[in-house]
Amino acid sequence: MTVLDDYTLLVEEGLSQLTFPDSPRSLYDPCRYVMKNGGKRLRPVLTLMASGLCGGNLEDAVPAALSVELIHNFTLVHDDIMDQASSRRGQPSVHVRWDEPTAILAGDMLYAEAFQQLLCYSDAPGRRFQHLQRTLLKAIRTVCEGQALDMKLEREKGGSVEEYLDMIRGKTAALISCSLKIGGISAGASQEELQRLDLLGDKIGLAFQIQDDLMDAVADPEKFGKTRGGDILEGKKTFLLLTALENGNETDVRELYSVMDKDSLKGGDIDRVVHLFRKTGALKRARDTIGQEYRQAMELLEPFDDSDYKADLVTLLNFLIDREY
Ligand code: IPE
Ligand code: IPE
Ligand code: MG
Ligand code: MG
Ligand code: MG
Repeated sequence: MTVLDDYTLLVEEGLSQLTFPDSPRSLYDPCRYVMKNGGKRLRPVLTLMASGLCGGNLEDAVPAALSVELIHNFTLVHDDIMDQASSRRGQPSVHVRWDEPTAILAGDMLYAEAFQQLLCYSDAPGRRFQHLQRTLLKAIRTVCEGQALDMKLEREKGGSVEEYLDMIRGKTAALISCSLKIGGISAGASQEELQRLDLLGDKIGLAFQIQDDLMDAVADPEKFGKTRGGDILEGKKTFLLLTALENGNETDVRELYSVMDKDSLKGGDIDRVVHLFRKTGALKRARDTIGQEYRQAMELLEPFDDSDYKADLVTLLNFLIDREY
């Protein structure tokens, strides 16, 4: 047991109260499958920690925490269709286990369920309910913008690391910032605290997505739970690919493009691309950038009053730095 398990338990307890109706099974079975299918529960844990950090009662933040985890899972189900990704959390993706229409609909239902959770705050003091809704809606719009940029970059030949950073600020960091902020809002945090949480989420989000890109290429797929080299297979403009294209010599760049132009890739092609990521220094630059962003995140925590929650956030950041899944 680590200190983080206390937060995760509270989240799992909340999720276990989410009961989907029996019928129609074709809609609710995939919803149950997704929500019971593991996952690190990073975002809801951040919501609880942020609530504690801002002087709130953790129990009161549970519906807000569930709402971000539901939105996260909605984005994953639709993302796997967009990315043609066949496995997630070590299991077949919803659109593979069932089919695409089923996955689209299950995602829609999780989205609705997220806003259902926020209704728990309809009688909360001040205008917290409206503030929570506004914050979650804004984050979802930003995630959609990020996902649209992801698809655009995938289709285009080039792309810069700068465009990539804009894209991941949307697709990943926005929901992480939102998770922290809605924890703060549920606790009645000040505008200044919310701004600090926003920035903290941005740093964590950037590090988290670059790390996801890195693991997609080099992690043990058994632990990571997704197909090895999934981004390479799909021609994704990841931090690694864009850095390798920027840093590589003419031969490296030609080879990278020649692999990406192939219709179907084999294991050997993935190994070759990973070799080029190493040779051009892209793997190292990713590791350095991840470390740098997490260090800056730690610094952003400093102005908050000392508390167990603050210490637990530091523990969480240290866990994330070393994560293998
Ligand atoms: C996956 O998020 C999507 C990204 C933003 C990279 P997580 O790695 O948090 O997914 P789970 O919920 O733990 O499976
Ligand atoms: C994560 O992007 C962003 C969202 C799911 C919104 P990825 O496409 O890299 O996430 P994984 O790797 O499939 O989890
Ligand atoms: Mg994606
Ligand atoms: Mg994906
Ligand atoms: Mg990924």
